[in-house]
Amino acid sequence: MATKATKTKQKQISFAPGKSKRSEGILVNASSPFHVIESFKNIRTNLLFTLATRESKAVVISSSMPREGKSTTSANLAIVLAQTGAQVLLMDCDLRKPTINRLFKLNTQKGLTTILCGIDKIEEALNENVIPNLDIITSGPVSPNPSELLGSKRMSDLLSIVQKAYDYIIIDAPPINVVSDAIIVAKQTAGIVLVARQGQSRHDYLQKTIENCRFADVDILGIVMNEAKSSASYYGYGYNYSYGYGYANPGRGAKQG
Ligand SMILES: Nc1ncnc2c1ncn2[C@@H]1O[C@H](COP(=O)(O)OP(=O)(O)O)[C@@H](O)[C@H]1O
Ligand SMILES: [Mg+2]
Repeated sequence: MATKATKTKQKQISFAPGKSKRSEGILVNASSPFHVIESFKNIRTNLLFTLATRESKAVVISSSMPREGKSTTSANLAIVLAQTGAQVLLMDCDLRKPTINRLFKLNTQKGLTTILCGIDKIEEALNENVIPNLDIITSGPVSPNPSELLGSKRMSDLLSIVQKAYDYIIIDAPPINVVSDAIIVAKQTAGIVLVARQGQSRHDYLQKTIENCRFADVDILGIVMNEAKSSASYYGYGYNYSYGYGYANPGRGAKQG
């Protein structure tokens, strides 16, 4: 999916050379169970259909509460998108509980906070080709004012630069019912994919999250059901790592283009 136009666009940022690193843990790879790989490919397909009609190809991944699977979903979605040949950027915008660095074994000395404070240029903080076609910007060092940084002009500038340089941008964000960071960032993207975790997420909390998104006029692009207990048993695997995908009814929030 990396087009000639994309490559031309990429020249607008001079990226620092990066090293290939093997991803581990809960990240999908060739030896992951078939149903896990297929689930993420299904999520990818649905997301690509949804994004086809939007100008922005940047997507925020969030949920109601902590530990529902936002970071895991962000990382795996970025991986399967990169496998199509598209140029993908994964950004850790959870500046309060950064996780992407741990999943990919990257350090946080340079990252989003150092870019937003003007300490580093984008290319200095970028981890290029962590896996083929996937670049990552980690959270950077912990900062005392995450919401201010994410709402700053520098953040808007960064989002416009990277949206021109990449085919898709996946943004890992904090939970919506806890802090406003995800909504602040999502307003400058195509919208939010919400993650809910079966057996953990509460219906009333999810309802509140959806209301928050609508109130802020942020599109809900879809809902990922993490640890869904449906098709997994069919393939004879445990229930863990099973992902389902369905569209929330975005109601009046649905915008096209
Ligand atoms: N489908 C799953 N099966 C098993 N463990 C999972 C699954 N999804 C997430 N986890 C684990 O749950 C914990 C929280 O996941 P994480 O993605 O960090 O959530 P969040 O970003 O929403 O806080 C992590 O330890 C992660 O490895
Ligand atoms: Mg997280």
